[in-house]
Amino acid sequence: MVDPKKNFLRLMDWEPQAIRDVVDSAIDLKRSLKDGTAGFPLRGKTIGMYFEKQSLRTVTTFQVLMTQLGGQAILLDPASISLGKRESVADVGRCLGRWVDGLVVRCFKQSLVEDLAEWSGIPVINALTDDSHPCQAIALAQTMKEHFGSLEGRRLVFVGDGNNVASSFAVLCAKLGMHFVHTGPEGYRLKPEFVASLEPLFKVSGGSFAYEPNPKKAVADADLVYTDVWASMGQESEQDSRGKVFAPWQVNEELMSHAPKNALFSHCLPAHRGEEVTDGVVDAPYSVCFDEAENRLHAHKAIVLKLLG
Ligand code: CP
Ligand code: NVA
Repeated sequence: MVDPKKNFLRLMDWEPQAIRDVVDSAIDLKRSLKDGTAGFPLRGKTIGMYFEKQSLRTVTTFQVLMTQLGGQAILLDPASISLGKRESVADVGRCLGRWVDGLVVRCFKQSLVEDLAEWSGIPVINALTDDSHPCQAIALAQTMKEHFGSLEGRRLVFVGDGNNVASSFAVLCAKLGMHFVHTGPEGYRLKPEFVASLEPLFKVSGGSFAYEPNPKKAVADADLVYTDVWASMGQESEQDSRGKVFAPWQVNEELMSHAPKNALFSHCLPAHRGEEVTDGVVDAPYSVCFDEAENRLHAHKAIVLKLLG
């Protein structure tokens, strides 16, 4: 049996206090890196990194943080391992569990991170699946807390596809009492059963969920406007058709002029400049996407220390 609290498979698995603690820890760790007081708490520990999809930020930050904390990260080659073909997931998981102290996994199916957690018996961190991107949610929460001082009651407006990133952000808002607004094409909304599963959490936390088709109305009260690519990894064949459907939801200077003056903008990156977002927005003074990218390092460090420290 997998203990969801000993892994980071879905943000849904963690109690609000555990999420708040990890965000605060990320902020402290950022400070201690600058002060030189972080030490080497992971000396002798190794994480294995299994990435079926491309990555810059996630793969780099986990490697850098393991070095900074005195441990090491090793890259596992999906082509060589040939999971499920050369060897079963169960046997690969059993072997990895005998050698490394934790796994960071980016893959298509959410069930694979869960199966690897089950068979390896070591902490597994979800580094993005088709369904979710919980690491990104922690980095966003850290970035918002640093900029606004608090998270409760903040309004996060997600523009575009109701995808893996949007899903994890909706959970973040449900757990931490934030308001989540999605604006995007009708056919690309978050799944109704998923949204329904968040309702009891929003009720307890005091946050809310809304879908608003009109992007200008949606951003009107935003604290932070967020977007992501229109076609995620694995959806490349839909790139052109999505481009047409999503065009009215491009985050450009005109749309941002309908947001409050002090609203921030962010993007998980990579950004497809000229598609879901314009240069003028990514590079604007109100854009915190590179702060959020920087915070991936600290957020991931906090997650690893919680699970392996
Ligand atoms: N945002 C994000 O996860 O970036 P990478 O795909 O480069 O890891
Ligand atoms: N939704 C995007 C996020 C990339 C970090 C994808 O899954 O490709």
